[in-house]
Amino acid sequence: MPSATALDLGLIHPADSPDSPWWRDAVIYQIYPRSWADGDGDGMGDLPGIITRLPYLSELGVDAVWLSPFYVSPMNDAGYDVADYRDIDPLFGTLADADALIAAAHELGLKVLIDLVPNHTSSDHVWFQAALQAGPGSPERDRYIFRDGRGPRGEQPPNNWRSVFGGQGWSRVLEPDGTPGQWYLHIFDTTQPDLNWAHEDVRAEFDAILRYWLDRGVDGFRVDVAHGLVKEEGLPDFRGSMHLPDNPIGTRFPMWDLDGVHEIYRRWRAILDGYTVAGDTASERILCAEAWVRPESRLARYVRPDEMHQAFNFDFLACGWAAEPLREVIENSLRSNDRVGAPTTWVLSNHDVVRHASRLGLPAAATGHALGGVGAQDPQPDAAVGLRRARAATTLMLALPGGAYLYQGEELGLPEHTTLPDASRQDPTYHRTKGTDEASIGRDGCRVPMPWVADTPGFGFGPTGRTWLPQPEVYREYAVDVQDGVPSSTLSLYRDLLAYRRKHRFGHGSLAWDEEFTSASVIAFRNTSGDGERTVLVITNLGEQNIALPDGDVLIASGPLAEDGSVPTDTTVWLRLPMRG
Ligand code: GLC
Repeated sequence: MPSATALDLGLIHPADSPDSPWWRDAVIYQIYPRSWADGDGDGMGDLPGIITRLPYLSELGVDAVWLSPFYVSPMNDAGYDVADYRDIDPLFGTLADADALIAAAHELGLKVLIDLVPNHTSSDHVWFQAALQAGPGSPERDRYIFRDGRGPRGEQPPNNWRSVFGGQGWSRVLEPDGTPGQWYLHIFDTTQPDLNWAHEDVRAEFDAILRYWLDRGVDGFRVDVAHGLVKEEGLPDFRGSMHLPDNPIGTRFPMWDLDGVHEIYRRWRAILDGYTVAGDTASERILCAEAWVRPESRLARYVRPDEMHQAFNFDFLACGWAAEPLREVIENSLRSNDRVGAPTTWVLSNHDVVRHASRLGLPAAATGHALGGVGAQDPQPDAAVGLRRARAATTLMLALPGGAYLYQGEELGLPEHTTLPDASRQDPTYHRTKGTDEASIGRDGCRVPMPWVADTPGFGFGPTGRTWLPQPEVYREYAVDVQDGVPSSTLSLYRDLLAYRRKHRFGHGSLAWDEEFTSASVIAFRNTSGDGERTVLVITNLGEQNIALPDGDVLIASGPLAEDGSVPTDTTVWLRLPMRG
C-alpha cells in the first residue's frame, strides 16, 4: 500500500504489488543486430557477435533484450521487410545461432524479445510471389491489398494514400501476361506489401509464427506497426499526413489505430498466456506494441488486460525538453494506464529517431520537433547540452514507475552521426524522398555500429575493422573501454541508475508530485517503493536557476552539483529522504 504521506502530496499513481510479474518494471535493452557486434568481420553485426557481448548487458543491469529483426530479408528496410519469418538471414547467422543466443541470454538471467513484423511482408515472401503469379481475383492476391486502379485504364492508384517513407502508397504490377494490371498497397517501401488482416490465412499464419518462436524459447515480441494492421473498409482517401504526430490530436485515420486491431491482440494474448506455467510469473511471455497513437487514452487500449503487456510511450519520447509538457505526459500516461491496470513503458531513443543525446541538443529540442534525421546541411546539435540533457532525461525516466526501453549505445551517451556521407545512406526514406518536398535524410544516423574499444579499427565493432556504416571519429571518446570504471562516465551513470532502481524496486513504486519543488521549469516527484520503506525525491531542473536541496542523501545525480550542493540546469538528482517520525 502507498504511504499516507504520498497520498497527502497528491498521489497520481499507486505502487504495484512487490511480487508482480517481471515485465511490469523491466528495463529492456534494444539491440539493433546489424550494428551491435560483428562476429565474422564482414562489417555487419551478427548473432555470434551478440552472444560474445551479452555479459556486458548483465553487468549493465538490464532485465531483457529486444532484438530488431534478424529474419531472412532482402534488407530493403534493414530487415523490417521479412521474406521468411522462420529463419535467420545468413548475414546474421543461423537458426542454431538464434537458439544459442536465447540459451546464453537465459543463462545470464536475461529475457529475450524478438521483433514481429505483421503489417507487411517483403515482396520476396513466397506469398507475395504467388500473388503476383496467380493474378487478379485469386485467393493468393486476397492475402494482400490488391485493387484495380482509378481512371479509364486503371492507371491511377486506388486512393491517395502516401507511403510513410515518401511517395505513393501504391505500386502497379505487371500481370502474368505482361500487361500493366492491379495495384497493391504498401504503407512503407514498395518492397513491403501490406497484408490483408481480414483474411483468415494471415491470422492463422501469424498464430503459427508466434508459436514457432515461443517454442524456441523467446520471452516475447515487440510488435512492429501495431496500430496499422487493419484498414478502414473501402480504403477512403485521406488528407492528413501519414506521420501521426504531424496531425492534430483526435484525427481519424483510415489506416491507423482502427478498433479492429484489438481483436488480433486478444487472440495473440491467449496464445502467449498458454505458455505461462501456472503460479510462475517469471514464465510470462509478453507483447509490446509499437503504436504511434494519441492521446494516451487511445494507447492504453493496446494494454488492456487481455491484450498486450506493454506499449512504447512515444508521447514521452517526442515531448522535448520542457517541464510542463513532460509533466503532463507523465501524468496522463500513468493515469490512462492505471485505468486499465497496465504499467507505462518509457522510452527515449530507438532505431527510428534521432538519438536523445543529440535530439535534446538541437534548437528544436524545447518543442520536441526533432525526431527525423539530421544531415550535414542541417543545424547541428550542441553536443555538450545534448549529453547533459540526455543524462538528466534518462535519470528522470529510470526513476518513473513502470518499465523502460534503452536503445543500444545510449548508455554511452552516444550522439547521432549527423554528418554521414549521403553515399553511405541506406534508409529507404532517404532514397524515396530525395529532391521532393517530403525530403528526409533518413534514420541511418542513429544506426551506426557501436564503439567498444577506442584504439582499434572500427572501434572494436568486429575483428576486421569493417563497419557497414562509417563511424564518426568522435565515437572514439565514447567507446566502452574509455568509460568502463570511470565514475563520471555515462556508462557508470546507467549502471548506477539500474542498480539502485532494481535494489529499491522503483519500477514498482508509487508516484506523487512534490508540491514544494514543482515549478514551471522543474519536475519534482516522490517515488515510494511498494513496501513503503524507501522514498526517493526526484528533481529535474530544466530551468536556469539552481535549486537548493532539502536534507537527505543524494543517491545519484546526472551531472555535477554546484559547489553549494544545489542542482544546476539540465540536471536530475535522486535524493533519499530521511524517514519521517
Ligand atoms: C517500424 C520500424 C521501422 C520500420 C517500419 C516498417 O516503424 O520501427 O524501423 O521501417 O516499422 O516496418
